[in-house]
Amino acid sequence: MKIISDALELKAYLKTITKSVGFIPTMGALHDGHLSLIKEAKKECEFVVVSVFVNPTQFLAGEDLAKYPSRDEADKKICSLAGVDVLFLPQVKDIYGEDEVYVSAPDVRGYVLEGATRPGHFNGVLTVVNKLFNIVSPDYAYFGKKDAQQLNLITLMVKQLFMSVKIVPVDTVRESDGLALSSRNVYLSTKERKEALKISTALYEASKMVSRKEFVVDDIKMSMYKILGSLEIGYVEILNREFKIVEEIEIGNTVILVEALVGTTRLLDNIWL
Ligand code: PAJ
Repeated sequence: MKIISDALELKAYLKTITKSVGFIPTMGALHDGHLSLIKEAKKECEFVVVSVFVNPTQFLAGEDLAKYPSRDEADKKICSLAGVDVLFLPQVKDIYGEDEVYVSAPDVRGYVLEGATRPGHFNGVLTVVNKLFNIVSPDYAYFGKKDAQQLNLITLMVKQLFMSVKIVPVDTVRESDGLALSSRNVYLSTKERKEALKISTALYEASKMVSRKEFVVDDIKMSMYKILGSLEIGYVEILNREFKIVEEIEIGNTVILVEALVGTTRLLDNIWL
């Protein structure tokens, strides 16, 4: 596995690769969720590039940028064992200069849900993903359904900016008890870890209600709020795959999303029905 930190060096190197390129952008502290994206890429592409870059522009003032987990050595090992061809490990100065051009998230879809509590977050995400796509020029790029709004906005950016990469959504990987894997789970105490399970439990309950043909959104939300109970809820939303609010569930076209604060850790989860 080649490790490269210079963007132009990587761009020049990838120009010599004639194989199909799959790309997985990450912020590191890699876990089995990231690994499943890598495995999908390995299945479909001849050449796989992973980036590890904690992108400062997607963190708002007062968020966890300074303490975001960093595990470069473990990440290198994980990527190498998974058969990654190139690991891109840039520093901030390799990606950002002064007086930057930014990609703006759309006024509506970029400022609901995560974008409402973290205004500007998706400008940072789209800007860095755009830069990374321009450096890597992948044929396929892999994103987790766990970050459903991020996936939705990146898909929209690719379409609206006429980019040629194909976005591949990958299912959420969970612990055996249901907790969605996240780099931020390391912040949870044992007690908080238990509390956090209420999120996946609420989503499973929603899915059970739908399988009993209970399709009314307000009833489902009510049951979910009961399970989420004492957690500080950011949002519980039931949307169609276009991210528009619906009153009734339509199977095959619904995403149920939860954001909750467990202790001081903001956790996201969702289920696609
Ligand atoms: P990060 O949180 O490191 O996630 C990288 C990718 O892994 C994202 O596509 C995310 O959805 C996916 N992922 C995270 N947890 C997952 C899980 N449990 N199951 C499946 N996939 C999972 O998302 C980011 O980084 C950044 O915003 C980034 C896109 C890299 C831009 O900086």
